[in-house]
Amino acid sequence: RDQLVVAVDGPSGSGKSSVSKEVARRFGLAYLDTGAMYRALTWWCLDRGVDLADAAAVADAARELPLDQGTDPDRESVLVAGTDVGEEIRGARVTESVSAVATNPAARAALVARQQEVIARSGRRIVAEGRDITTVVAPDAHARILLTADERARMARRGLQNGGTPDAEQLHQQVVGRDAKDSTIVNFTEAADGVVTIDSSDLTVEQTVQAVIDVVVRAA
Ligand code: C5P
Repeated sequence: RDQLVVAVDGPSGSGKSSVSKEVARRFGLAYLDTGAMYRALTWWCLDRGVDLADAAAVADAARELPLDQGTDPDRESVLVAGTDVGEEIRGARVTESVSAVATNPAARAALVARQQEVIARSGRRIVAEGRDITTVVAPDAHARILLTADERARMARRGLQNGGTPDAEQLHQQVVGRDAKDSTIVNFTEAADGVVTIDSSDLTVEQTVQAVIDVVVRAA
């Protein structure tokens, strides 16, 4: 079948993971969560006691990371050296440190290369989501989307994911603080040339999925 690469970028809590997975299902595409790769690398560094301020050590860890990540949108799996880290990489420990790892240029280069390999191995039939997919990882994607949402909506969504009764300050740090740190790495707040912005603040997941599907259909 024809190639179809869909690139989705956006801040935390924009809904990009749920939406990207559902779009992958509807089109029968593979799914790549690049944030999970940065999280897996962070977990691996913390597990091995790598000093996150040691740029060379973090870059080495990125190149050596024994990562096995599934690309089935219905069965997410993230294994590091055979250990299932799917739960732990979503926890506060990893979330608080992931931006520090993601600011390492050599580590990013190593992960971007892996992401491009995953896209090639899918036969270029994949939805890939993150912060720099439309600009760095797959600027040649058929459909390129920036999924945004205002702060209120992003905090509410992240709060629900955390179980509904989050510590307000911690939640604000996890969403707004992390986005501020991530913004120093890559620009995911403004759409690059040719990238379509979808604001999901007042849309349901299904409405957002439809909006993305419209962009994909127009691009195909
Ligand atoms: O998307 P998610 O919130 O799981 O991403 C976790 C972290 O990984 C982000 O906060 C960011 O620091 C980093 N990241 C990145 N580039 C990507 C995807 C994620 O720098 N393409």
